[in-house]
Amino acid sequence: MELGVNIDHVATLRNARGEIFPSPVHAAFVVLEAGASNVTCHLREDRRHIKDEDVRIISDLTKKLNLEMSADEGIVKIAMDIMPRSVTIVPERRKELTTEGGLDAISNVGRFRDINSEFKSIGCTTSAFIEPDLKQIEAAAEAEFDFIEIHTGSYAGKTGIKDKAIELKRIKEAARHAVKIGLKINAGHGLNYKNVYDIVMIDGFYEFNIGFSIISRSIFTGLESAVKEMLGIIKAAELAKV
Ligand code: PXP
Repeated sequence: MELGVNIDHVATLRNARGEIFPSPVHAAFVVLEAGASNVTCHLREDRRHIKDEDVRIISDLTKKLNLEMSADEGIVKIAMDIMPRSVTIVPERRKELTTEGGLDAISNVGRFRDINSEFKSIGCTTSAFIEPDLKQIEAAAEAEFDFIEIHTGSYAGKTGIKDKAIELKRIKEAARHAVKIGLKINAGHGLNYKNVYDIVMIDGFYEFNIGFSIISRSIFTGLESAVKEMLGIIKAAELAKV
């Protein structure tokens, strides 16, 4: 199982002072060197953190960019030009603090099928950020995404043991269903050093995309160590399964 690290918040810090540091490009190399399998960046329409030149350079130099993006036509054009290794289509609302909820694949099968065919024509893998909802997962398969990334935000947001168990069960059922209908599965959002273990214990996941908790920890431990610690937990859960 692999770890993708979302480095958007390195750019958030850089932009807070209008500086050229800390550099997201530098961060990309550190996380890959530490063992991450990809670097995830979300090129938001308002460019509040990562900018066009960041993703262009990271994609060109590492060849391991997973570009999170909305299905907006202008962003699709930019992404086609950047040619990331993979794209993850997410819903996007201007005022949200972070991506809220998954895609409405059911209402957008045709549009998403067109986007998938464009990206696949340049050898780019596609993924849809989807709530653990069986009908949405079926629509994502119908739209011909290669992967879905199951939104773990609801699980991560629950504090009570019972509520957490309910969310975990939803994710488990969603994962099983997605694999059964031919999708590959990733997971992400709100995962941290405490809650990731139970998600890794679910069968079928290829990759976990984690940002905020790793970048936050790196302030105290350094980025390399923060990534390695997360990889250690993922490995431990993998070993506990066999
Ligand atoms: N996956 C997707 C699709 C996301 O939109 C985000 C947030 O940008 C993440 C993963 C990472 O979430 P977090 O920063 O909470 O780890």
